Amino acid sequence: MEKMLREMRERVMQNIAEARATSALEQIRVAALGKKGELTALLRGMGKLPPEERPRMGQMVNEVRAALEAQLEAREKALAEKEKAARLAAEAIDVTLPGPERSAGSLHPMNIALKKMVDVFVGMGYEVVEGPEVEFDHYNFELLNIPKNHPARDAQDTFYVDDNIVLRTHTSPVQARIMTTRKPPIRVICPGRVYRADEADATHSPVFHQMEGLVIDENITMGDLKGTLDEFARQMFGEGIRTRFRPSFFPFTEPSAEVDLTCANCKGKGVLPLAKLSQAEPGMATSQIKDLGGATVGCRMCKGTGWIEVLGAGMVNPRVLEMCGIDPQKYSGFAFGMGVERMTLLKYNIPNLRYLYENDLRFLTQYR
Ligand code: DAH
Repeated sequence: MEKMLREMRERVMQNIAEARATSALEQIRVAALGKKGELTALLRGMGKLPPEERPRMGQMVNEVRAALEAQLEAREKALAEKEKAARLAAEAIDVTLPGPERSAGSLHPMNIALKKMVDVFVGMGYEVVEGPEVEFDHYNFELLNIPKNHPARDAQDTFYVDDNIVLRTHTSPVQARIMTTRKPPIRVICPGRVYRADEADATHSPVFHQMEGLVIDENITMGDLKGTLDEFARQMFGEGIRTRFRPSFFPFTEPSAEVDLTCANCKGKGVLPLAKLSQAEPGMATSQIKDLGGATVGCRMCKGTGWIEVLGAGMVNPRVLEMCGIDPQKYSGFAFGMGVERMTLLKYNIPNLRYLYENDLRFLTQYR
């Protein structure tokens, strides 16, 4: 029995030393020291020994148990530490790694341009007002001196909701709404969406945006209109951009003008320098190529005229003032209406209106 004890102690010690995980240690402990384990079985065998040997054997069994327990505990501690270290290593986070990239949204280029347009006029003391997109014929046409059967209605390709209601064809009805509800002085801009039954192409869309302006007070003149639009052009497009007024006709203004801006693409020259391509080298900046001088090409932006038409304007027709309840003897005013898409294409030198509506991120994210 002594031999068996020694042999067992030996073997279990070896197993403990070779155990690679705390879970394996537990199995060893149960098999060796558990209630149904090896040592218990040996103890039971003690009954067969002569009584005088029993105390010594009992002592030996206790020693073996104590030794194995001590070894198990020591090994357990060592393995537990190792396992903890491994777990920590596996869970470690490298806080210096760059985080996943988050793409931030940005304003649509048209909204950037509109915001700038609004800012310029707000800076001059204008108030921003809005009106409905589904509008009464009364405001969209009648009060603007465009009675039923007036030829100007044909020019506007109107979407009719019913006989008296339309999708507004311009932002001018907001003028009429303001004039009928307020007393001068009036100084407002009205940005918004407008609708016309047009085929979509490079310069047309059935839904687009305008910004209307209206100023009414005593002694307002065409000079005020010209000065206002000149200042707008300067702030919107930079120094050197001027306005040109051409006589025109709108039923709601008299006199009326179509207003052009200096073409920002060719700086009003109507032509652009064409590189002497033989001297251009790969990798040269466009400005360097232009510096090479040589022939010129007509500017495509303004079709060689040096001017770009951007808006309609004029002095508010006294008939309109009167219909809206404002005394034309006492007050005068000017109005203008500009295309927001147009301004955007000009500001960013974008060649086709469709880019604004296709929502291609490769295009949109260039403008922030
Ligand atoms: N409503 C005109 C249009 O859509 C633009 C316009 C012209 C507005 C002259 C005005 C103006 O206020 O005075 O074509």
